[in-house]
Amino acid sequence: MGLSLLVTSFFFLLLSHGVVESRTLHHMTSGSSYLTQKELWFNQTLDHFSPIDHRQFEQRYYEFLDYFLVPDGPIFLKICGESSCNGIPDDYTNVLAKKFGAAVVSLEHRYYGKSSPFKSLTTENLRYLSSKQALFDLAVFRQYYQESLNVKLNRSNIENPWFFFGISYSGALSAWFRLKFPHLTCGSLASSAVVLAVYNFSEFDKQIGESAGEECKSALQEITKLVEGKLVSDGKAVKTLFGASEEGHPSYLNAGFSGAFTFWRSEAKFNSLEQSTTQIGFMLKNDADFLYFLADAAAIAFQYGNPDKLCPPLVEAKKAGKDLVDAYAIYVKDYYLGSFGVSVQTYDQENLKNTVLSDSSGDRLWWFQVCTEVAYFQVAPSNDSIRSSKIDARHASCSKIVFTNGSQDPWRHASKQISSPDLPSYVISCHNCGHGTDLRGCPQAPLSLEGDAKNCSSPDAVHKVRQQVINHIDLWLSQCQVTGRSYI
Ligand SMILES: *[C@@H]1O[C@H](CO)[C@@H](O)[C@H](O)[C@H]1NC(C)=O
Ligand SMILES: *[C@@H]1O[C@H](CO)[C@@H](O)[C@H](O)[C@H]1NC(C)=O
Ligand SMILES: *[C@@H]1O[C@H](CO)[C@@H](O)[C@H](O)[C@H]1NC(C)=O
Ligand SMILES: *[C@@H]1O[C@H](CO)[C@@H](O)[C@H](O)[C@H]1NC(C)=O
Ligand SMILES: *[C@@H]1O[C@H](CO)[C@@H](O)[C@H](O)[C@H]1NC(C)=O
Ligand SMILES: *[C@@H]1O[C@H](CO)[C@@H](O)[C@H](O)[C@H]1NC(C)=O
Repeated sequence: MGLSLLVTSFFFLLLSHGVVESRTLHHMTSGSSYLTQKELWFNQTLDHFSPIDHRQFEQRYYEFLDYFLVPDGPIFLKICGESSCNGIPDDYTNVLAKKFGAAVVSLEHRYYGKSSPFKSLTTENLRYLSSKQALFDLAVFRQYYQESLNVKLNRSNIENPWFFFGISYSGALSAWFRLKFPHLTCGSLASSAVVLAVYNFSEFDKQIGESAGEECKSALQEITKLVEGKLVSDGKAVKTLFGASEEGHPSYLNAGFSGAFTFWRSEAKFNSLEQSTTQIGFMLKNDADFLYFLADAAAIAFQYGNPDKLCPPLVEAKKAGKDLVDAYAIYVKDYYLGSFGVSVQTYDQENLKNTVLSDSSGDRLWWFQVCTEVAYFQVAPSNDSIRSSKIDARHASCSKIVFTNGSQDPWRHASKQISSPDLPSYVISCHNCGHGTDLRGCPQAPLSLEGDAKNCSSPDAVHKVRQQVINHIDLWLSQCQVTGRSYI
């Protein structure tokens, strides 16, 4: 084992000339988009794989019982992924919970947010950070919560039917959980689940080109070339334009390091729905970090359903003979840094060395997972493999997982590829359908309450897939129950 999960994305970069601008970022979402933020805690096992180590840590979770059909309604577990988990966001899961009379619970991923077993994040202390430990966390939590519910309801040995939900990395956990512990859930929704450990993930960039369309794609490519040129001739000016300037360091590119994981930075943003109070004006010393920041800014437009913030202005600027780099800089500042609210610092690789537990520790934690993680769906590397190349874990024998994808999402190629009756998969096709559209609607920044789909370019496409998801949940929950009754 030791297949490193390294997803690289190379592509469009951008940039231009200009003035340092320093301002406070806008707030993307308010606290009202949570169902609950009331923290609950329980003692979790630190190492699920050691017979002798009995240390524990306190893990944070949330519960929302307003729609729960007492006593035997289903329990929906929303898995929190690679970031601080500050509550249960009011996305489409809420609509489903109402429909099914479900309790909703959500567990913070170990190490992230307030669920860190250690105050110091030295490499040694990170040894218990893995998706495998996280899956056992979920299993232990599931048993703990069921028992405490039973106590509350003055009963014993009763099991409610459970259903797991996740988007992106937590979507992959949702699928893997069902694979590993089929007796502990009735089924899983794996939304935009990145279940494939793609080594050189060139499809990511390709999908951006396809989602953008010819004109926008060539504008982005032109911008990349211009920015690369400007980095060589006057790197500082270019970085200054984007509020990421530096003082006289030699340029070097290290794309292997920097080209990683768009979804982590931005999903972290989503899961925490929190405001960074960061100021634009942070220095990105490393050119590769800077280029990655610029490339990510374009990817995000497609990933989260806002292609029209990016493409039409670029295409217009091109037609009017205006400076493309300037046009792009406006987009990056107004949209990516402004309304989307990303902070430039998270692109600084120096960040990753910081072992002090803080709000930005997620960067280091996720990078550690990227470098060390072994996925469940282990496909053979193309060369020099130990395992047989005939293994295709995507067809692993499991059942009752529904996979969904957004058609414009650059991550869709890391999701499950083939639909089957027991592992159905659906693509939601529309102009602004991105990462997790089935649960979040469009556009996703800002998040629309209950994942409202009316601003998707084809609400109908979303509704159709949601209806399929509902049918699967209903069927699998009813098969889980001795009574076999339907919940809707
Ligand atoms: C966890 O265990 C410790 C030590 O036994 C105890 O002091 C603490 O109250 C427990 N926390 C929870 C949330 O049960
Ligand atoms: C709990 O159930 C037991 C046995 O059915 C009963 O004797 C007891 O009164 C119940 N307690 C409460 C608080 O309902
Ligand atoms: C991945 O891409 C890098 C950079 O293009 C290249 O050097 C490397 O050989 C590739 N690795 C594989 C396994 O394809
Ligand atoms: C594949 O691995 C073999 C043995 O390690 C090596 O000789 C060969 O150059 C590799 N081929 C590629 C395309 O990386
Ligand atoms: C996701 O998109 C890929 C690429 O288009 C497609 O092959 C795959 O079937 C889709 N997966 C799901 C779960 O819809
Ligand atoms: C849909 O778009 C309209 C117009 O831009 C906007 O006012 C409204 O808030 C949006 N609704 C949702 C649910 O995003």
